Amino acid sequence: MLRAVRWIAFAAIAVLLFAWGGLWLRGTGGEANPAVAGLPGGVEVGGPFSLQDAEGRSVTDADFRGRWTLVYFGYTTCPDVCPTELQTLTSAVDQIGTLASKVAMLFITIDPERDHGPALAEYTKLFDPRLVGLTGTPQQIAATAKAFRVYYAKVTPKESSTYLMDHSSFIYLLGPDGHLRALFRQGISGQDIADALRTRINAS
Ligand code: NI
Repeated sequence: MLRAVRWIAFAAIAVLLFAWGGLWLRGTGGEANPAVAGLPGGVEVGGPFSLQDAEGRSVTDADFRGRWTLVYFGYTTCPDVCPTELQTLTSAVDQIGTLASKVAMLFITIDPERDHGPALAEYTKLFDPRLVGLTGTPQQIAATAKAFRVYYAKVTPKESSTYLMDHSSFIYLLGPDGHLRALFRQGISGQDIADALRTRINAS
């Protein structure tokens, strides 16, 4: 009898684990939208960072605990992708009404050599005064990019005196606990990010 009860308990736990596993593998919110990438299984994306804002004040990941945080990595002299994606990111926050008070927006430069001080402050202001620009030493930027699995590399076109930065382009959504909650692919609309934000904030 006792043996049978044990087996039933064991089977019940196995079924529960299986169901949870299925939910986890299905990705974030089960969105049908292909622009919302599933959370990478088994790979930690994101983590602690220690950087500076445009005024040189120290800023860490802990400063954003308790808020939902959208993060984009790029550089201020980017000719195309960065401005488009930052426009999308800030327009998403414009679309969620009062929920915007629960959301922070970060632009982390992968070109700290050029992006700091007024150049960084003026750039973020172009998109939204709430967008926080972050820079750091090359080592701090490298460590942060590594944690978020961001690829970046300096590229100097032939017969050019200045360089461009080649870089990956994702919009990250971190939860109030600082952990990754969604990953948005390049080209997603502000409306789709707004929907994803609303769903997650309202469910929390
Ligand atoms: Ni760019």
